[in-house]
Order: sequence, then C-alpha cells, then structure tokens
Amino acid sequence: MKLSRRLEQLPSQFFASLAGKVAAAIKEGRDIINLGQGNPDQPTPPHIIRTLQESAENPAAHKYSPFRGTDELKGAAAQFYKREYNVDLDPASEIAILFGSKIGLVELPLAVMDEGELMLLPDPGYPDYLSSVSLADVTYDTFPLLEENNFLPDYAALTPEQKKLAKLLYLNYPNNPTGGVATKEFFEDTVALAKENDIGVVHDFAYGAIGFDGYQPISFLQTKGAKDVGVELYTLSKTYNMAGWRVGFAAGNKNMIEAINILQDHLFVSLFPAIQKAAAEALLGDQSCVTSLVERYEQRRDVLIEECRRIGWEVTAPKGSFFAWLPVPAAFTSETFADYLLQEADVAVAAGNGFGKNGEGYIRVGLLVEENRIREAIRRIEKLQLFQK
Ligand SMILES: Cc1ncc(COP(=O)(O)O)c(C=O)c1O
Repeated sequence: MKLSRRLEQLPSQFFASLAGKVAAAIKEGRDIINLGQGNPDQPTPPHIIRTLQESAENPAAHKYSPFRGTDELKGAAAQFYKREYNVDLDPASEIAILFGSKIGLVELPLAVMDEGELMLLPDPGYPDYLSSVSLADVTYDTFPLLEENNFLPDYAALTPEQKKLAKLLYLNYPNNPTGGVATKEFFEDTVALAKENDIGVVHDFAYGAIGFDGYQPISFLQTKGAKDVGVELYTLSKTYNMAGWRVGFAAGNKNMIEAINILQDHLFVSLFPAIQKAAAEALLGDQSCVTSLVERYEQRRDVLIEECRRIGWEVTAPKGSFFAWLPVPAAFTSETFADYLLQEADVAVAAGNGFGKNGEGYIRVGLLVEENRIREAIRRIEKLQLFQK
C-alpha cells in the first residue's frame, strides 16, 4: 500500500544510523562508551514507583481515565508551577496532560496550523521538531543558535516575511543540544516579538530542572504576558527519570491548551490513571531526588570539562541540560569526528550536524554514564593525540 504523503515526507531519523553503528560495534564485543544518546541512566525514585504499584492494585485505576486527564494530576501540575516558578495556572483551562512532551510538540502544529503555514525552528535543535512539520504538512524556516549569542536567537535577523507568516515559534532552554540557557530579557523579547507579529510560542522545557552552579532554569511562563502568547511543555522524563512512563503536560495559553485537548479528545483517552497518580506524587512528593540528580549531572559535567581541558581540548561548560556541546578539531567535520571516535576510541558521540546545519563543527556528549566511564572516554581520546596540551 502506498503511504500517505504525510508519512512519506517524514525526515529519516539521523540518529538511527548512529544507534545502528553502536549496536554493531557492541556485537563485535567492543567496550563502547556511549555518550551519544539522551536516555536518562538512573532509575525512577522508589516513592514514585510505590505510588504506581499501589494505584495499579485499585480497580478504580482500571477504568478509562477522564478524557482530559485526572483533576489530581492537573492540580498537581498547577501546584508544581506555583512552587517552582511562582506561576499561577488554572488546572482546568491552562493545563493539558500529555503522553510525554514529544507528543505535545507534534500535536501543536496539527492543532493550530493549516497546510503551508510557517513554523520557526531552532538550528541546531531537537530533531523531532521536524516530525511535526511533516505530519501537519506545514512549512518551516530555521533560525540559527550561535555560540557568539550564547545560543539564543537573534530576532533582529528574522525577515519581515518570516515574522508575518510565522504561526508558531519553537524554543528550548536549557537547550538540547547546546546546553545554552535563557535569560529573563530574552523571554521578554520573545513575548514582544510574539505579540507584535501574532506568533504562538512553544517553549520546550524538557530540561527545566537541570541547571548547574546554583542556577535554576527560568520558566517562559514567568515572563509578563507569556500566557497571552504561548505554552510551555514540561516532561517528567528527565526531572524524575521517568522517560519510559510517557508523562508530561502543556501549560499556559488557554486557546492553545484547548486546541491540544480537542485534538486529544479524538486521538486518545488519557494516560493509565495509576501513571497519572504516580506523576502527581512525583510533582508534589519529596523533591530531594531531583536535587541529588542535578548534583550527579553537575559532577559528571565537571569531570568531563576538567578532563577535556586537561588533554588540551578547549571546551565550554554547559549551564544546564545533561549535554555538553564540544567543538570538533579543525581536521574533521562533525560526522568524520564522531565516526573516528567510535572507530579508534570506542567512544560514541552524536555528530552536531544531525541537529541542523549550524550544528556542524560540534559533537554532543551526554552526561548519562558514570563518572569513571567519562574519565575513561577522555583517556581513550587523549591517546589519539588530537589536541596540544
Ligand atoms: C529537547 C527535548 N524535547 C523533548 C523531548 C521529549 O521528551 P519526552 O517526550 O520524553 O517528554 C526530549 C527528549 O529527549 C528533548 O531532548
């Protein structure tokens, strides 16, 4: 059967080929240190698992969930935003429950855009934003995230045409892949741009909990007027090591939340009620697990950056997210360097060009293996004698 145009135009998964190369190397019996992926390595905290177990025993959890998710989880999401960011949200109209934030990223263009309308996407950026472009059959332009601008977009560089045609603008801070973070002024400029040009803002806050050196990442919704123009997508995947559970939520602009909910009324009944209960426990229960997780990532980051600098690799420390964005030595491209490291050092990293053309010249390293493996990876790279001490 011929596939629909929407499916045929889906981009190929750039990182599937990396996963294939890593799997083949492991099959050969090689000890690969995989710094290429973005999958949290720690388990979900026990109190969250216990809540799921107890709730799963309760027949009330075996029924269909309310279509738009439980009041308990939406209420917990609102309380979480009040506690963490001092943002007031109405659980009924300003929160939509999601099967992970990825689904919200894909749903938003389907829910508010018509064929041919324009999305503005970051380059480099999370590759799955492009899935939403193809499925909604919309067009897109990218804006560069450059190191010299601290990986924030320069709105002055948008053309009048782009500003006129754009319907949605996607942002993501702390940023995957660059580790860049947003500032209050930048979010204020974003609200102003959105208001002037009638653009909906989608802030992907997947790494919202992960800031280093005492920095707490700021929420877009803390910005005056943010709820008039956009939504923020929050996921439990990273904050609570719940990537496999598939739970997150969108918060903010009522019209955009309602649009997501209408689409979801037709696509899903909401999540397994026991998962919603456990997610509410994650958001409102003991948060010491989050503090220790961030400390763990920060220690790994410190080891990585120290080790890189020790071997003469000039790198910048990320301020947030669990990724480091490292420059590639002059003789290589992102891809040839990633291939070289896999071949010669048994170290897997993500080539920066997989995140967009402005990712060329970088590799992305995940902080998702233990410290001793990070040290070992850099020792192996040191042996290649690529850098001058
Ligand atoms: C930037 C970014 N956004 C969204 C997601 C999706 O997260 P989830 O669907 O698990 O909530 C990820 C996952 O890696 C990500 O890196």
